Amino acid sequence: MKFFIDTANLNEILEAQELGVLDGVTTNPSLMAKEGISGKDKVFSHYKSICNIVDDNVSAEVIATEYQDIIREGEELAEIDEKIVVKVPMIKDGVRAIKYFSEREIRTNCTLVFSAGQALLAAKAGATYMSPFIGRLDDVTYDGLKLIEQIRIIYDNYGYPTQILAASIRHTIHLIKSAEIGADVATCPLNVITGLLKHPLTDIGLEKFLADHRKVNS
Ligand code: G3P
Repeated sequence: MKFFIDTANLNEILEAQELGVLDGVTTNPSLMAKEGISGKDKVFSHYKSICNIVDDNVSAEVIATEYQDIIREGEELAEIDEKIVVKVPMIKDGVRAIKYFSEREIRTNCTLVFSAGQALLAAKAGATYMSPFIGRLDDVTYDGLKLIEQIRIIYDNYGYPTQILAASIRHTIHLIKSAEIGADVATCPLNVITGLLKHPLTDIGLEKFLADHRKVNS
């Protein structure tokens, strides 16, 4: 399973990268705004800074919603660095644009997916990644993980190469269940990735090992 970090914060990206388990980064306009990044030049240079930290897979989202504008913006984003994956919303012009990009070997991440039908369209258009938003579905009393299960079955039925990127992950159980189901990628905040480290028996066990070591080595 690939781990992406869902943030535009350079310190958090660096911390996850230094842990040695990071496969990529996802950003979106809200995450860029949270970091106070605005204006095309600053946004593009921030993407470049992210690319300089990680090995690959930096999702950069288009703002455009009309086909020609999505194409133009996506091509500009892809020019920033070969690690860029163009993130395109699940709308009609977005699906058309994903098809265009896939024919030109520009990698895409189809975002804002909330149904199996949308996931099927993304795969047929040739999306590299397809992002169902688990947490936001849970927020409206639909089981987000059930959607991941449904999409896994559909993609496996036909051997679609589009990778399921579980997004809007809010806690470690979302991540672990997504792994059980077979999501190809999970994108999460840093605290979810580091949350995987935690177990009280590890802490208690380590404390005892070190205490026993001290007893005979002091
Ligand atoms: O990866 C999508 C993510 O950024 C949305 O997360 O927590 O705003 O639903 P959230």
